[in-house]
Amino acid sequence: MKKVGILVLLCVLQVTHSSRDSLVKLINNGYEDIIIAINPKIPENSNIIDNIKKMVTDASSYMLQATENRLYIRSAKILIPNTWSSNSIYGRPKTESYDKADIIIADPFIYGDFPYTLQYGGCGERGKYIHLTPNFMLNDKVLRIYGPRGRVFVHEWAHLRWGVFDEYNDDIPFYISKLGKVEATRCPLALGGLNKVDICGARGCKKVDCQVDLTTGLFESDCAFYPNVDREVHESVMYGQALEPVHAFCNAKSHNKEAPNQQNRLCNQKSTWEVIMDSPDIKASVPLTDTNIPGPTFALLQYKDRVVTLVLDVSGSMSQFDRITRLYQASEVYIMQIVESGSSVGIVTFSSDAKIESELVKIVDTFQREKLKQLLPKVANGGTNICAGVRKGFEVNKKTDSSTYGTEIVLLTDGEDTAISSCFEEVKASGAIIHTIALGDKADKGLEQLADLTGGLKLFASDKVDANGLIDSFSGIQSGSGDVLQQSIQIESTATTIQPNKCLAGKVTIDSTVGNDTFFLVTWSYIIPSIELKDPKGKEYKNAQFVSDIVSKSSRLTIPGTAEVGDWEYNLCNTQSVEQVLGLTVNSRAANPDVPPIVAETYMNADTNIFPSPMIVYATVTQGLAPVLGVKVTAFIEPQNGKVITLPLLDNGAGADIIKNDGIYTRFFTDFNGNGRYNLKVHVQSQDSDGKANIPKSRALYLPGYVENGTLVENPPKPKVTIDDLNLGNFSRTSSGGAFVVSNVPSGPLPDLFKPSRIMDLKAFIQDLKVRLTWTATGDDADKGNASRYDLRMSLNSEALVENFDNGTAVNISSLAPAIAGSAEEFSFTPQDIALKNGTVIYFGLVAIDEAGQKSEPSNVARAALFIPTPAAKPAPTVKPGNSANSILGSGNTFILTLVLTILAYHL
Ligand SMILES: *[C@@H]1O[C@H](CO)[C@@H](O)[C@H](O)[C@H]1NC(C)=O
Ligand SMILES: *[C@@H]1O[C@H](CO)[C@@H](O)[C@H](O)[C@H]1NC(C)=O
Ligand SMILES: *[C@@H]1O[C@H](CO)[C@@H](O)[C@H](O)[C@H]1NC(C)=O
Ligand SMILES: *[C@@H]1O[C@H](CO)[C@@H](O)[C@H](O)[C@H]1NC(C)=O
Ligand SMILES: *[C@@H]1O[C@H](CO)[C@@H](O)[C@H](O)[C@H]1NC(C)=O
Ligand SMILES: *[C@@H]1O[C@H](CO)[C@@H](O)[C@H](O)[C@H]1NC(C)=O
Ligand SMILES: *[C@@H]1O[C@H](CO)[C@@H](O)[C@H](O)[C@H]1NC(C)=O
Repeated sequence: MKKVGILVLLCVLQVTHSSRDSLVKLINNGYEDIIIAINPKIPENSNIIDNIKKMVTDASSYMLQATENRLYIRSAKILIPNTWSSNSIYGRPKTESYDKADIIIADPFIYGDFPYTLQYGGCGERGKYIHLTPNFMLNDKVLRIYGPRGRVFVHEWAHLRWGVFDEYNDDIPFYISKLGKVEATRCPLALGGLNKVDICGARGCKKVDCQVDLTTGLFESDCAFYPNVDREVHESVMYGQALEPVHAFCNAKSHNKEAPNQQNRLCNQKSTWEVIMDSPDIKASVPLTDTNIPGPTFALLQYKDRVVTLVLDVSGSMSQFDRITRLYQASEVYIMQIVESGSSVGIVTFSSDAKIESELVKIVDTFQREKLKQLLPKVANGGTNICAGVRKGFEVNKKTDSSTYGTEIVLLTDGEDTAISSCFEEVKASGAIIHTIALGDKADKGLEQLADLTGGLKLFASDKVDANGLIDSFSGIQSGSGDVLQQSIQIESTATTIQPNKCLAGKVTIDSTVGNDTFFLVTWSYIIPSIELKDPKGKEYKNAQFVSDIVSKSSRLTIPGTAEVGDWEYNLCNTQSVEQVLGLTVNSRAANPDVPPIVAETYMNADTNIFPSPMIVYATVTQGLAPVLGVKVTAFIEPQNGKVITLPLLDNGAGADIIKNDGIYTRFFTDFNGNGRYNLKVHVQSQDSDGKANIPKSRALYLPGYVENGTLVENPPKPKVTIDDLNLGNFSRTSSGGAFVVSNVPSGPLPDLFKPSRIMDLKAFIQDLKVRLTWTATGDDADKGNASRYDLRMSLNSEALVENFDNGTAVNISSLAPAIAGSAEEFSFTPQDIALKNGTVIYFGLVAIDEAGQKSEPSNVARAALFIPTPAAKPAPTVKPGNSANSILGSGNTFILTLVLTILAYHL
């Protein structure tokens, strides 16, 4: 018996991927089961399906060529929304769902039609999804700009699957090379072209050569690079896949290490092909000798209405720690507020045996919800037989059309069951999705595996009531159909122990993107508190307006129609003579069918972790896939002992956050507190003009045109994106990120095992013969606290710095005490051993060292070129330090300084 438990534990520990991971398989050089999902808001149009097939078919042969006969696409699944008419040729999805799709076809909401990939990890790490718009799929005019769809697919696939980055840079389109020439940011440098700018007069515009701006040494603004269609140059897919002769990635030989692009910054100046060659996909694939590959096959799958059965543990241990009451309270929230209308819901309870409490009931309105609520369990006794519960759940789910494919089970248990693995085979074959909720510190270790086998969510709630963990877990179980308009969105979730005659007071902001179906739920542990709630117009709600339920210890207020936008103030007072936990949960749904609601989502870098490797917390805040910037995001991580760790997440392009301002908020997590399960939750808050929607990064290059046989061919102008007036006002969200399991944490105080995280945003400038460096401070433990000191190196040779940091010339930086992680650092010095002359390019690297002497990885290599304007030019304008240099700042690694050596110029 014991052995089984250990085996299961080992298996659990080996599963390190996240449940939202891709389901793609790579078998004998071929990708199988790529999921392409169409958003339910897109009007039915069979051309989309035809064009997806054509795109994937073209992508397959282009991919084979670009990977030098290693990889192609064998099969894909197209998920068709249930808003489209049904068709007998459409199959039924099993565990495939919109939120696990590799490619999403959805409306862009605020930005144009550019294809992009959501990347959040570092170099070589997989991304989350590729987003293509319906217009991109249907309108052949956009192909002029981005190239054929199959090629764009391979460009984005390289982001998604192999973790390479773009080789162009919209923010820094040009730089001064080592040879003192202005170059377009690109790969390879061998790809020539023309630099042109429009001069417009009364009789229209004409293109002329770009002039070098005498103060910056760069081309005037609005200058564009038109690459040649050069039959001799086949690189690079990450630069210009639209150019007909391009069918390869930049490799070690052709790579342009100088270009100030994301690829160089994040991959340490490695070429895209070298990174791709290091990917597990390529390592698993020997080049094919027979390149006559079959075209990909497609399965068309259409969603059915959601079928979900709650499978709830009512064994004896559920009577401890008030668990059965909390189960009732949280599952009641799920049934009354969370589960979408149109879903069919069943209830099963289990202890030593399982029992159907309710067959499937289709939810149309509150009547069915009330009916189901009556059937939720209130008493607990007996043993724990998880497989019996799961089998009963399947039996209920089968009732609609005798199949469990694509149906869901929400399995909650607090107990151990040595026989849990006995139904793994059945579970795998069922095609059903099992979401698991582990309650308390004894819940079976095999639970996560049930979720992993089926692509379900893994959730955990401790016995600590004021963490609100169980209600949040149930709130996190959303349908995977991609229909955010139907989803229940958690606005607030808070709970605190309140002393006698004290109150829990605060405000909840309802923003304009939500407001329908709004519930305020007050929970307590002994006696109803005195409740006061005031809407933004001053209308008051008190105990009498709330519907209270003594069994679930909760009071609910439903706001009819659309709730008032603004701050709702609440005051919950404990009128008892003993302390009790009071909580408030607020949920709502989208208000306007045409405006996607703001949503927050959170996840860890892995589901399991072995100490001492640090973990990474991510949270994305989006509105209709557009990133939302500038908001305050806080993660709450709760270990089994209930001692919550609070961690502010940042989108600052430092520490764990690879890209600044992409709406992905990140932080390293190193404060481990014991072994076992941890629960993750985030709170998102935006005050007035903080929150802004923006345009995603990692998008395909907009090509303004190209030069063929000496003739410049222009493309349609870049679609204008209006990003004024995207202020989102005040809003708040909470989101549950599910559970992860940590092992190998020693008891007692933790030794300092975490080195400072790598500095990724080092920038260099030369001003008045002084070098000025800026970066974001890293920490003592990853990105927390203060590092002890820095080690700064410089070199005239970037390769020397990359290959061996210690080879660089040390610069005395001991006068600078490292600031706290996340703050802006700046250091200036006059180089001693390098003569600065016009055209000198100097490279810099930085290492942070912690108290225990542990060193960070060397930073990105920052580059500064010295430009001295020609003396013949009109008197150079005096430039205040940083002035014009700032205008060319972007997110790349290389920053070309502006230097106006007025004195020198006069002397010459
Ligand atoms: C929200 O409710 C209003 C009426 O109260 C309705 O007109 C609107 O369509 C609803 N929004 C959504 C997304 O269903
Ligand atoms: C947004 O929140 C701030 C700070 O709480 C408050 O001063 C402001 O009035 C709020 N704005 C609106 C439009 O409610
Ligand atoms: C450019 O020249 C090549 C070879 O000389 C020829 O094949 C191609 O058709 C020409 N392209 C155009 C647009 O004239
Ligand atoms: C680094 O320095 C060592 C010894 O000084 C030398 O042998 C080596 O070639 C240098 N490496 C590079 C990349 O310059
Ligand atoms: C570095 O500079 C500090 C003063 O800023 C000085 O005290 C120290 O001696 C210098 N170290 C070296 C190795 O020159
Ligand atoms: C960390 O840096 C901050 C400045 O960012 C400073 O105020 C603080 O004293 C430093 N703490 C330590 C322990 O050096
Ligand atoms: C510095 O170099 C640039 C580019 O080579 C050139 O245009 C400029 O005239 C030079 N400045 C001086 C003072 O020679």
